[in-house]
Amino acid sequence: MRIAVLKERAPGEARTAATPETVKKFVALGAAVAVEEGAGESASISDTAYREAGAELGSAAGVVKGADIVLGIQAPDAALLQGAKPGAWVAALFEPFGNRERVDAYAAAGFEALAMEFMPRITRAQSMDVLSSQSNLAGYKAVIAAADVYGRAFPMMMTAAGTIQAAKVFVMGVGVAGLQAIATARRLGAQVSATDVRSATKEQIQSLGAKPVFVETVAGIEGEGSGGYATEMSEEYQKAQAELVSGHIAKQDIVITTALIPGRAAPRLISDAQIATMKPGSVIFDLAVAQGDGTGGNVEGSVADEVVEKHGVKIVGYSNTAAHLAADASALFARNHYNFLSAFWDKEQGRPVLDEEIGNAVRLTRGGEVVNERLKG
Ligand code: NAI
Repeated sequence: MRIAVLKERAPGEARTAATPETVKKFVALGAAVAVEEGAGESASISDTAYREAGAELGSAAGVVKGADIVLGIQAPDAALLQGAKPGAWVAALFEPFGNRERVDAYAAAGFEALAMEFMPRITRAQSMDVLSSQSNLAGYKAVIAAADVYGRAFPMMMTAAGTIQAAKVFVMGVGVAGLQAIATARRLGAQVSATDVRSATKEQIQSLGAKPVFVETVAGIEGEGSGGYATEMSEEYQKAQAELVSGHIAKQDIVITTALIPGRAAPRLISDAQIATMKPGSVIFDLAVAQGDGTGGNVEGSVADEVVEKHGVKIVGYSNTAAHLAADASALFARNHYNFLSAFWDKEQGRPVLDEEIGNAVRLTRGGEVVNERLKG
């Protein structure tokens, strides 16, 4: 049973799919682990550290040769996997809706693509959920990055030269990233408010010491919705939300937007006209900038990896926020991989055997075909 880990090749990808800790654990399960030289460099992990944990180090072609399982952050091109065993598994992020060609290439090459972003939202899969582990870090980083370009301080400070007021931070979208953004902004001493379309988040916002700002006139989503995800809201709701937001953001210093809808472009939450009502020097961090429709993410005009200034407001957003915390993001992603494969480890066969619920959810290709229900029709 051979597990291969390649160096990530996507531009800006600084994370790695295995750490010395997870290498050691896979070796303890009886697997051989091969890591491409330099795979951990951008996450501050040396080749020596992998070797000491029990990994074999080598070239891409060398580590892939004879591999049963390949672990990645972003799925490698199928062409890089020549030499892996027929039917080898590749567990990574596949962006299945945005990059269908890659899925088809995996099917054609006969590999089993396991999309980590399709992990079902069930209790026993929580420790395998890369969207949660990475969003959590992204929510933290969004606040830190916004604080960095903001020309003022977050906490209230009483100094001999006078008092500095606490920053007002508004978080839009209170999923995993939004909750961490609220907690981080609170730790930095800001006055925090937050909104979501799911009414279940109201209590969560309050429990973190922030103020909920909700559309009360039109029904939002009660409870958690399917798998905890939001759906697209009615026009009436969107109009009420825009009015509410307009009044509120004009008084904010920092706005963090995190709203996503699976399989669709990120919903537009802030228009250019609304940006114009904000005070000069305010900062917006658009965590959904990479999931946008080409004209911005949650925020009109946001551009990935650039600081855009409009009406005196700085708009920031990264194409890959978690990669800006590469060491921690790698540690958590690698543990998600380990938790996933080890939960299904069959001692007799010396390899993982997936069950139906999780296997069918994450498996995109098998036996030369695209087999995932979400990609059919
Ligand atoms: P997400 O990344 O899909 O979306 C972020 C947030 O944006 C969500 O809270 C969503 O309701 C909100 N949103 C969408 N459209 C909006 C709009 N127009 N205006 C304002 N907000 C909008 O969500 P995420 O972070 O993945 O979490 C969603 C839920 O799933 C959470 O309740 C979380 O606790 C739950 N969850 C459960 C897991 C499990 O049981 N294994 C794992 C991960 C999350």
